[in-house]
Amino acid sequence: MEASRIALPIGTALDRFIKNNQDQFQYASGELSQLLRDIALASKVVNREINKAGLIDIMGAMGSQNTAGDQQQKLDVLANIRFTRALTKGGEAAALISEETESFVDLTNDGKYIIAIDPLDGSSNIDVNVSIGTIFSIYRRKTKEGEPINDEDILQMGDEQVAAGYILYGSSTMLVYTTGHGVNGFTYEPTLGEYVLSHPDMKMPENGKIYSINEGSANSFSESVKSYIQYCKDNNYTARYIGSLVADFHRNMLKGGIYIYPATAKDPNGKLRLMYECNALSFIAEQAGGIASDGKGRVMEIKPKDLHQRTPFYVGSKKMVERAIGAK
Ligand code: AHG
Ligand code: MN
Ligand code: MN
Repeated sequence: MEASRIALPIGTALDRFIKNNQDQFQYASGELSQLLRDIALASKVVNREINKAGLIDIMGAMGSQNTAGDQQQKLDVLANIRFTRALTKGGEAAALISEETESFVDLTNDGKYIIAIDPLDGSSNIDVNVSIGTIFSIYRRKTKEGEPINDEDILQMGDEQVAAGYILYGSSTMLVYTTGHGVNGFTYEPTLGEYVLSHPDMKMPENGKIYSINEGSANSFSESVKSYIQYCKDNNYTARYIGSLVADFHRNMLKGGIYIYPATAKDPNGKLRLMYECNALSFIAEQAGGIASDGKGRVMEIKPKDLHQRTPFYVGSKKMVERAIGAK
């Protein structure tokens, strides 16, 4: 059935694309499709707010911190509200776990799915008009309808994701997602108010020459990370670091490259969050032919113990990640 599928042309609207590919999903339910549409809709609202951020009072800090101790920006909180609201109304998700919320949010609608989300990625770039993003993972709920949500539902491994994606609010806004059958990218067409297929069947180049790492912390990198960076320099690679994971990842997806957020003295387990950032991007990277590792093994095999757990993260082109982690 997979082989006979007719590829939809560039310009196909996201809704039509989702519907057309619904039968690829093993549970063959329209609910996952609806969930993806809910996320796409909320992202359009967030996109609208981001685009007028300089004109209304939504820039700057809230004066509060999230569970991980990060300064919350107004847009972090606003985006979290928009996604939570869309998913609550949609009814397909039973619970939401978010970087901005201490414990899981029971959406009290007995849906079959669990969502993990980083509603606004790259907060430090909001006020300076640099690309930011949203990252999401979708899991099947393990408990049965009517049963209370428990750790089995919310602490699932990356390998248990049924879909994942990101939205990049950049020079154009894009939604990129996978349901485990390759990766497709859609560009937002503001005059139509629609995401349309622009990057079908995305593949990450097997090798590349771009490395992305915050070298300001280099003094506390391990010897192996230091020597990989030296290798990049010895080979005249290009350094690119936006400071919004989604944007750095997306560039490397298209051009080939590696993103590393290793353990540092300040963040001994790395800074990035396994459940809101790393699992989703790992799923997309692998589906596009890339690799995602914590330096020891596949990120998606890590069994989470805590919702807000952090992990070192090496993601990108296969050959580059293999070299960086010393696998080849
Ligand atoms: P968030 O805004 O969701 O907290 O994520 C910020 C992350 C990630 O987007 C980025 O790559 C990284 O933090 C940058 O961290 P440094 O400033 O320490 O390099
Ligand atoms: Mn983030
Ligand atoms: Mn965030």
